[in-house]
Amino acid sequence: MSARAFLPKPVPRATIEHLLTLASRAPSGTNTQPWKVYVLQGASRNALVDKVCAAHDALRADPSLAAQYREEYDYYPEQWVSPYIDRRRENGWSLYGLLGITKGDKDKMHAQHQRNFRFFDAPVGLMFTLDKVMGRGSLVDYGMFLENLMIAARGHGLHTCPQAAWNGFAKIILPHIDASDSEMLVCGMALGFADPDEKVNGFHTPREPVASFTQWLE
Ligand SMILES: Cc1cc2nc3c(=O)[nH]c(=O)nc-3n(C[C@H](O)[C@H](O)[C@H](O)COP(=O)(O)O)c2cc1C
Repeated sequence: MSARAFLPKPVPRATIEHLLTLASRAPSGTNTQPWKVYVLQGASRNALVDKVCAAHDALRADPSLAAQYREEYDYYPEQWVSPYIDRRRENGWSLYGLLGITKGDKDKMHAQHQRNFRFFDAPVGLMFTLDKVMGRGSLVDYGMFLENLMIAARGHGLHTCPQAAWNGFAKIILPHIDASDSEMLVCGMALGFADPDEKVNGFHTPREPVASFTQWLE
């Protein structure tokens, strides 16, 4: 599950290193291992949070700024169609419903969205980049690396939230982490100890039954 509220409890560097070692057992085409990870804690984490929250607020005040903030690859489709749009809406409204955010409440929506840019208060923020020379297949490899990392985190009592929300702010993030021009931002991730008392962490998402996405051919 994706956690969206974390305790301030720090995560030892040795644990993070161990999780990354486990994650790197992910398979990748011809063992290319295309992942590159930036671990943000303390001042570097906090400074990025401040910069991106300020940009997010400014964007709300002046939507014409959106042209400046482009994702480096299309994570989502340009044109949403059923059934994906329906699942997306159900997901969003279920989460907002749990948090008591109603349709017209733009301030609360903005505030909840902005929690992404505080890593949901997790003490560890991760940024993942990919060398732009690599092909689309590397994103398949990357997904397995990320999933390994998330499962390994659970094995150590930790939770995560993978975050594409950061992607639009790559032009702030990449210089902040000192990434080279050849890197593109794949996504961010919050890592830490989930707060069990926050109701947002009681949000459990449904899945389609196997029969709805599987064809048996004999
Ligand atoms: C690559 C990726 C990016 C995501 N980006 C965000 C995000 O920016 N913010 C967020 O709250 N959740 C994000 N999610 C979490 C999804 O909303 C979540 O995985 C989905 O709703 C299923 O819920 P579950 O992870 O709790 O099972 C992301 C998930 C993935 C795999």
